[in-house]
Parts: sequence; structure tokens; C-alpha cells
Amino acid sequence: MKNRVDVDYFVILQKYINKADMNILLTGGAGFIGSHTIIELDKAGHSVVVVDNFVNSQPEAVRRVEKIIGKEVKLYECDVRNREGMDKIFTENQIDAVIHFAGLKAVGESVSKPLEYYENNMNATFVLLDVMRNHGCKNIIFSSSATVYGDPAMIPITEECPKGKCTNPYGQTKSMLEEVLIDVQKADPEWNVVLLRYFNPIGAHQSGLIGENPNGIPNNLMPYITQTAIGIRKELGVFGDDYDTPDGTGVRDYIHVCDLASGHVAALQAIERKQGLAIYNLGTGHGYSVLDVVKAFMKANDVNVPYAIKPRRPGDIATCYCNPEKAKTELGWEAKFGLEEMCRDSWNFQKNNPEGY
Ligand code: NAD
Ligand code: UFG
Repeated sequence: MKNRVDVDYFVILQKYINKADMNILLTGGAGFIGSHTIIELDKAGHSVVVVDNFVNSQPEAVRRVEKIIGKEVKLYECDVRNREGMDKIFTENQIDAVIHFAGLKAVGESVSKPLEYYENNMNATFVLLDVMRNHGCKNIIFSSSATVYGDPAMIPITEECPKGKCTNPYGQTKSMLEEVLIDVQKADPEWNVVLLRYFNPIGAHQSGLIGENPNGIPNNLMPYITQTAIGIRKELGVFGDDYDTPDGTGVRDYIHVCDLASGHVAALQAIERKQGLAIYNLGTGHGYSVLDVVKAFMKANDVNVPYAIKPRRPGDIATCYCNPEKAKTELGWEAKFGLEEMCRDSWNFQKNNPEGY
């Protein structure tokens, strides 16, 4: 077995040998995680092409990224389900790898619009994989989710934890698409597939120029907190205080979106090493309750967030946080930012953009 020093040396050596100069296509690259990932890829010396249909984002996000990185980003407005459009992008650009963010992601909406969710998320991925194959590009990083663990069989969750039952169509699409990608790689070992299981991304780029910009009433905790703090919402509903957790509220593994973004750069190593199939949790390994987050937010930003305890939200689980050791050992990646920075940067974006982009 390699000891710690050997492993670090191995990771550094790999970075040196595989000089960063890939051309990466980001589907859904105008979205929350995608826009932050462009910056990290650029920092690492990669080139980026973005495709998005703006169903849940604005071109303005990419314009702001251009301001941050000081260069133009090649942006295509196209639905990933549009085969001709995707074919054109691959014809016009020599793409080395794809990071596939594009998808619909609102859990509650997926329950009321299952067909739209299955259709969009599944078909976009089928078209993408087929077009990639036709153009000889067989490297993909897929945005998966901790939701595939269902109510997790172990805490902290390692990648060996068996997948669980997803309680909504959104989660089902992630779980099913993981299986599709695994089968594609099995059938043709030339494929390199990296499944990244994200935990709960929050925060925003330090510039305050880009961040999470949900349409309508936020489903997720942090945007609800920031909108309450700024006065758009009256009070935050805390969904349940009778879970089997230290303070009774739900516990999650919140990760700064910039850390999550740099996790994608690190994951490219698995592709460069031609690892075949690789699966990584991207989280911090720390679990914080809803009330921990609310209190940390108020303290970090010196603002008030009125809240009231409400009934549990159907489909929620008590506790979900990961063991991030595998990504650390194999990719040399670990989250750098803590809860305070996540709260500070989320608020900074909200304050600078009270009405979004
Ligand atoms: P987001 O909605 O901000 O970004 C997704 C982007 O995909 C949007 O810009 C949207 O316009 C685009 N898109 C959707 N369908 C498309 C299509 N058919 N063609 C072209 N573009 C399309 O979401 P995000 O938070 O940045 O999430 C990115 C990915 O990570 C998603 O696949 C999401 O399911 C996954 N994920 C997110 C979280 C989270 O909490 N944010 C957690 C786990 C996994
Ligand atoms: N919560 C509240 N009030 C709110 C919103 C959320 O109390 O207004 C609570 C939830 O009950 C939960 C915690 O805050 O305990 C986090 O909830 P989020 O909706 O922010 O996040 P989830 O963990 O439910 O799910 C998110 C994404 C999923 C993704 C998952 C991965 O929405 O798409 O993280 O871990 F799959």
C-alpha cells in the first residue's frame, strides 16, 4: 500500500506530466455550478466551450464570468437534446472532454412534472453521448448527486455505500443516468466516465458577480435564507425540528461552490489517467443542521433571518454528509472553505444582486 507521502507525490507528478491544456465542453455551463467551474478550469489552463438553453439561467452569468477571467468564453445557445445543434458544436470545436451539468434540478417541481424531468434529463444525456461517440470524444464528467444514496445506509457516506431509493423523479434521473453511463463505459472501455456525487453546494464567487439565482420561490435552504435576510421573503420555514439529529433539524454537507468547481478540475485527472469508470463524493465531510446554518449566516453577516419551525418536508431525510477521503487520496482535492465563508459569499452575491442577474 502507498503511504501518504507517496500518494501526494503521485498526485503532484500526475499534474506535472499531464500539463493542463484540454478543451472542455460544459453543458449547462451558464448555471450555478457550471459558471463557477468555468473560472476554475480557466485558472488551471484549460479552454472552455459552453452550451446552454437558458431554461434555468441567463447569458449574463457567462458575461460576468468573462469579466472575472478577463477573456471571452465561447457560448452556444442550444438545447442539448437538439442533435443537429450539438453536432455543429462538436464539428466546430475539437472537444477533449465534456462536463455534463445540463439538467432540470428542482426536486419539488420534478414530482409535479415527472414527464418533463425524465424527458429533459434522460434525452439530453442520450443525445449528448451519441454525438460525443460520433465525434470520437469519449471522456465525460457527470453531475450526479448525493440524492442517489437515498436515505443513506451509512454516515458518513463513502462511495461504497449502496445506492438507495430516490424519493422523486429528479433523483431517479440522476440514479438512472449513472447506470446508463456505467453501461456505456462497460460496453466500450475507451470511455472514461467520472460520476461526481455533489453534496449541498452553497456560497458564490468572492467577486459577488456570480452566484445562485433561482427562479421564483427558492427550494433550497441558502437562497431562501439570503432572500429572507434581504427582505424578499418574510421568514424562513425550518422544515422539521424532530429529526434524530443534535438539534432536531436536518443535517447536510454544505460545500462552497468554488470548492465544488475545483473538484471538476481535479476530476479531469481521472480522465487523463484513462481510469475508465470513477466515482467520487464531492463534499466537506462536515454535517451542519438547518439551525447551524441560520445561526452561522446571521453571525457571519451581522443580519437577522427570521425563521419559524414548520412541518417536515416530504421526502427529506435526517442526515446526509460524506466521507470525502477518496477524492483527497486519488485526486489530491479537498474543500478549503468553511461554513463562515460560504455564508459570507452567499450574502455578498445576494446584496450585490438583489434582483438576480
Ligand atoms: P442550474 O439549473 O443552475 O444549471 C443547470 C443548467 O443546465 C442551467 O443553466 C440550464 O439552463 C441548463 N439546462 C437544463 N436543461 C438543458 C438542456 N436540455 N439543454 C441545455 N441546457 C440545459 O443547476 P446547478 O445547481 O448549476 O446544477 C448543475 C448540475 O448539477 C445539474 O445537473 C444538477 O442536477 C446537479 N446537481 C446540483 C446540485 C445542487 O444542489 N445545485 C446538487 C447535486 C447535483
Ligand atoms: N430546508 C428548510 N427550509 C427551506 C429549505 C430547506 O428547512 O426553506 C432544509 C431541508 O429540510 C433540509 C436542508 O434545509 O434539511 C437542506 O435542504 P435543501 O433543499 O437546500 O437541500 P437538499 O439536501 O434537500 O437537496 C439538495 C438539492 C438536491 C441534491 C441534494 C444533494 O436540492 O438536488 O442537495 O445532497 F440532490
